[in-house]
Amino acid sequence: MARIIAGVSSSHVPAIGAAIDLKKTEEPYWKRVFDGFGRSKEWMARQKPDVVIAVYNDHASAFSVELIPTFALGCAAEFPPADEGWGPRPVPVVKGHPALASHIAQSVILDEFDLTIVNKMEVDHGLTVPLNLMFGSPKEWPCPVIPLAVNVVMYPPPTGHRCFMLGRAIRKAVNSYPEDLRVIVMGTGGMSHQISGPRAGLINSAFDKAFLDGLTRNPQKLVRIPHVEYMREAGAEGIEMVMWLIMRGALDDKVKEVYRFYTVPASNTAVGHIVLENAPRAAHRRGVPVPAKRPSTKGRRAVAHAAH
Ligand SMILES: [Fe+2]
Repeated sequence: MARIIAGVSSSHVPAIGAAIDLKKTEEPYWKRVFDGFGRSKEWMARQKPDVVIAVYNDHASAFSVELIPTFALGCAAEFPPADEGWGPRPVPVVKGHPALASHIAQSVILDEFDLTIVNKMEVDHGLTVPLNLMFGSPKEWPCPVIPLAVNVVMYPPPTGHRCFMLGRAIRKAVNSYPEDLRVIVMGTGGMSHQISGPRAGLINSAFDKAFLDGLTRNPQKLVRIPHVEYMREAGAEGIEMVMWLIMRGALDDKVKEVYRFYTVPASNTAVGHIVLENAPRAAHRRGVPVPAKRPSTKGRRAVAHAAH
């Protein structure tokens, strides 16, 4: 059976993608940012997920203002990089996992979450930048990626609670998929930033760090944050953080925080990043054989007795 083993969140600042593409990652300004993801890349290389579900938002690349799905699940076999005005980013085509994506669509829609099913879509920096941050710049992405696009661009975006509950529904869907897959869910966007208007450049580190704390220890507090609070405290584009709650909802109630990173600024935003793991279960640890049979209660009592 498939299982979600961990969740990762990170900002998806477009300038990070430009720094990678223009080979500026060793420049002092950018090195500070990329060094913060070094441990995460090592962690991801050890995890070797079979599939990543990437929760991100499209920036008018695949969907224009003429069509704005609240939640859109990529069920295609592949998703080419979008041309965002400077030509498509020089990154690999994202290979999907149509079978698992279709299974998630069926399970989640029957659980009364009305997803839009997308069978053809290009993906922009919102998805490709976090893939670079977690996987580096390989010739091919190391595993299939299922894109889940969330509207946080046009009012009204979904609430944090709705996002969290969608994460729960995705977890249920993954857990009912028969193939033995290890799945990582990625939430992208944020943290505090505002790119236009009188408050352009707004950054609120206290709000961001409290949000990171809440993700690990008290997500139920975060799901009650209303849109207006994101706007006031984290800037107009800080609303992207609701996508992190889909990632968190897909994890177990209790998680282990493996790593976090926070730096200001990158471009004119705060960059935040966190890695959370579910408690391992034997069958889903790499290289750990699955026990053939659970010992009987009597047997366990005997073993416990012998150990004392
Ligand atoms: Fe964005």
